[in-house]
Amino acid sequence: MQITMLNEKAIRAVYTMKDAIADCKEAAKLYSAGQCSIPLRTNLNIPEHNGQSLYMYGYVPAVHALGVKIVSVYPDNIQKGLNSVPATMVLLDATTGTVSCLLDGTVLTRFRTGAIVGAATDILARKDSTVFALFGTGGQAMSQLEAVLTVRPIKYVKVYDVDFARAKEFAYQAEEIFGKQYDVEIRAVNATDEAVQNADIITAVTTATHAVFPGELVKTGAHINGVGSYRPDMAEIDEYIVSHAKVYVDTRNGAL
Ligand SMILES: NC(=O)c1ccc[n+]([C@@H]2O[C@H](COP(=O)([O-])OP(=O)(O)OC[C@H]3O[C@@H](n4cnc5c(N)ncnc54)[C@H](O)[C@@H]3O)[C@@H](O)[C@H]2O)c1
Repeated sequence: MQITMLNEKAIRAVYTMKDAIADCKEAAKLYSAGQCSIPLRTNLNIPEHNGQSLYMYGYVPAVHALGVKIVSVYPDNIQKGLNSVPATMVLLDATTGTVSCLLDGTVLTRFRTGAIVGAATDILARKDSTVFALFGTGGQAMSQLEAVLTVRPIKYVKVYDVDFARAKEFAYQAEEIFGKQYDVEIRAVNATDEAVQNADIITAVTTATHAVFPGELVKTGAHINGVGSYRPDMAEIDEYIVSHAKVYVDTRNGAL
């Protein structure tokens, strides 16, 4: 049995956020056309360690893709200096069912979670969006930022996190990485109101269990990406927004 192993470096050498956004649009089309067999994700609780292990599998005949991504969510890892969402993707040869490839799932998750939001933003946000508010500066945040910068001419990014020191460090690093490339200014702000005011695009990518910004301050016509919440006890977007917005979801079953 021969298994190819692709780590972060190998993946990034051949694949960009722009590629991932195009692929996510294609994948969403195949999914919506009923051409994917993707059962609902299986979640295992690991209460002894405040963790969850999530199993996401699928088969897409049109692109000969068969595989399972194993993603675990261990919020306490962040205090141990470890990734709070470790992940591995296992690909199988669809003709024989043999495992053919192991990919760094953390990198894939970052690409994919960023890129599906990039695809949604590209399709739904105003073309002339220039101000972006980013809530949450954890493992997913950098690729969320990259995805929005890839699809809209953003000039100013306001970054907010409950941990202001982390937000400042993130904004500094993000400006180092993207500042020149996208001609963008990236700043940490210490108040949710300040972050949301005047934003054309807002992304929430947090582990919050309550709304992360006041909906009433959101500019009319703004585009909001809600990324973080995936359990009934989690929430990032408040009732005002939910009752005033047009809501689009990636998969109806998953969202329900
Ligand atoms: N939709 C998807 O496809 C998808 C994919 C991957 C991860 N996720 C989810 O996205 C969330 C974020 O993932 P991550 O890896 O970046 O997590 P992380 O734990 O690395 O970071 C979360 C960040 O959110 C901040 N935060 C928590 N509450 C906040 C609040 N009220 N306001 C502002 N910031 C707040 C934390 O301080 C931390 O910096 C998780 O819930 C994860 O499960 C969703």
